[in-house]
Amino acid sequence: MLAGGPSPWSRALLLPLLLLVAVVMAFCSSDERLEEDRHILILRERALQLGGQMDLNEQEEAANARLMALKEKEFRQAVRTRQFPPSMHFFRARRLIEQSEVFHILRDMPKGAALHVHDFGMLTMDWLVHNVTYRRHLYFCMTPRGNMQFRFADPAPSSLPPAACSAWTLMEDFRKKVKNVTEFDARLLKTFTLVDDNPEVTYPNQDVVWARFKAIFFRIAGLVHFAPVFKEYIERSLGEFYQDNVFYLEIRARLFPVYELNGDTHDRHWAVRTYKEVAWRFAQRHPDFIGIKLIFSDHRAKNVSLITESVRVAMSLRAKFPRTVAGFDLVGREDSGHSLYHHRKALMLPAKHGFHLPYFFHAGETDWHGTWVDKNLLDALPLNSTRIGHGFTMSRHPAVRSDSWYKDIPIEVCPISNQVLRLVSDLRNHPVSSLMAIGQPMVISSDDPAIFGAKGLSYDFYEAFMGIGGQEADLRTLKKLIINSIKYSALTTAEKNAFYSRWKVRWAEFIAKLAKKPV
Ligand SMILES: *[C@@H]1O[C@H](CO)[C@@H](O)[C@H](O)[C@H]1NC(C)=O
Ligand SMILES: *[C@@H]1O[C@H](CO)[C@@H](O)[C@H](O)[C@H]1NC(C)=O
Ligand SMILES: *[C@@H]1O[C@H](CO)[C@@H](O)[C@H](O)[C@H]1NC(C)=O
Ligand SMILES: *[C@@H]1O[C@H](CO)[C@@H](O)[C@H](O)[C@H]1NC(C)=O
Ligand SMILES: [Zn+2]
Repeated sequence: MLAGGPSPWSRALLLPLLLLVAVVMAFCSSDERLEEDRHILILRERALQLGGQMDLNEQEEAANARLMALKEKEFRQAVRTRQFPPSMHFFRARRLIEQSEVFHILRDMPKGAALHVHDFGMLTMDWLVHNVTYRRHLYFCMTPRGNMQFRFADPAPSSLPPAACSAWTLMEDFRKKVKNVTEFDARLLKTFTLVDDNPEVTYPNQDVVWARFKAIFFRIAGLVHFAPVFKEYIERSLGEFYQDNVFYLEIRARLFPVYELNGDTHDRHWAVRTYKEVAWRFAQRHPDFIGIKLIFSDHRAKNVSLITESVRVAMSLRAKFPRTVAGFDLVGREDSGHSLYHHRKALMLPAKHGFHLPYFFHAGETDWHGTWVDKNLLDALPLNSTRIGHGFTMSRHPAVRSDSWYKDIPIEVCPISNQVLRLVSDLRNHPVSSLMAIGQPMVISSDDPAIFGAKGLSYDFYEAFMGIGGQEADLRTLKKLIINSIKYSALTTAEKNAFYSRWKVRWAEFIAKLAKKPV
């Protein structure tokens, strides 16, 4: 079970093992010494790596043997062909990943929870283009930079288009005049993701890729905040993750106003209730789906008085919806936003009022080692962050790493996001590699899979398992990551236990199938 006791996540086996090994060593002849020393080091490293001390039953051992045989085969093949997907840009690697048998296994694997995803980066964009933009009463305008803005309205929008946008045009009329609609739709879809054939050239640096990334959220805002689309977007997102064998999500949500066809708008309370209702209905129809929680989020670039206001809103939402609203986060690019320290007065407000508002801060999503941006990682802990979003820089901060270990505060690792947003190019060099090697608390998540051209959680699991974990990461590592996603969720202990028992049944099915798989 998840609370207390000698649970599957105990770390206490290492010492006795090492003592035993030392005794055995003392009796070795000098000839065997080299082999022994080498073997002991290998064992020690295996025991230290993430999940290294996880017990596997007989069937799991058999499944692991199958999995590792396939994994080793793919490593050998990569060395031969010089094409190793985790070392390539995801936009080029995706097709190769989809051919990988290891990937197919990871897709089938019940993956527990996705704890770091953002509200409108979750669902593959095709549906927005091929269904939503075909709906009646959709208008658009064009900003001087060629960014489309959408608005559903009936009667036609009476308000002027947003500043500097062209006049509103009815999409239905516009499509009638388009010469090649297939081509138009393909181009539209392309503007809804970052996917590109030549990402290194299209996105020469982090500034460019972040500007495009932000523009996508801006572009789709008018579509996804239309009430009927909003509801269906949530439902379809849950469907896409469920299909990918993910049973629970914690969603960073901005909770912007949602509008109706006649221009009426709904506030954040309505949005939270809607998330809650849609998730509840979804759980009724999908066996073993646990549900969702929201982490209300605001943009870190805002000033302290606005963030103070948002912290107040977060407190009131948390008080009103304690089971749905898990807490608060600051989102947006760290390099160009304000630091956590800058916002400390706002962030200390709940504690001053004796109110417990859990935090889930993005921190350390930067390449600027040692700068004020990098200090976010230091500030996340004293500000009582429950988990750390990304924690990309943690391996360079021994004191933070050590505190995060002892306080049991995990990092939420999103490999594809880090690569697409240009923090690291070859995922074998992802700094979390060294943390995985020592079993640092962590979970894997996918941030904004739809915008990165991924889907659900499996692609990120693949990158973590093959690239960041290296060849030695095995079923134990995977099992540990999954159990971590349950353990470090914001669910109550009772809910975690229920989730864990349901997951165990699916895991056993998965293992039985994998153990029989011919290699
Ligand atoms: C969009 O999908 C819904 C089902 O979710 C369907 O009823 C509707 O006809 C579709 N609309 C268009 C324009 O394709
Ligand atoms: C329209 O564009 C698509 C995709 O670019 C292309 O395959 C198709 O042949 C075009 N159709 C016509 C009628 O030109
Ligand atoms: C904070 O930003 C808002 C919006 O930009 C602005 O109206 C307000 O005056 C700012 N407050 C302070 C104290 O700077
Ligand atoms: C963090 O937790 C400590 C101990 O519970 C508390 O004293 C402190 O006020 C908290 N800080 C914040 C920013 O919530
Ligand atoms: Zn994020």
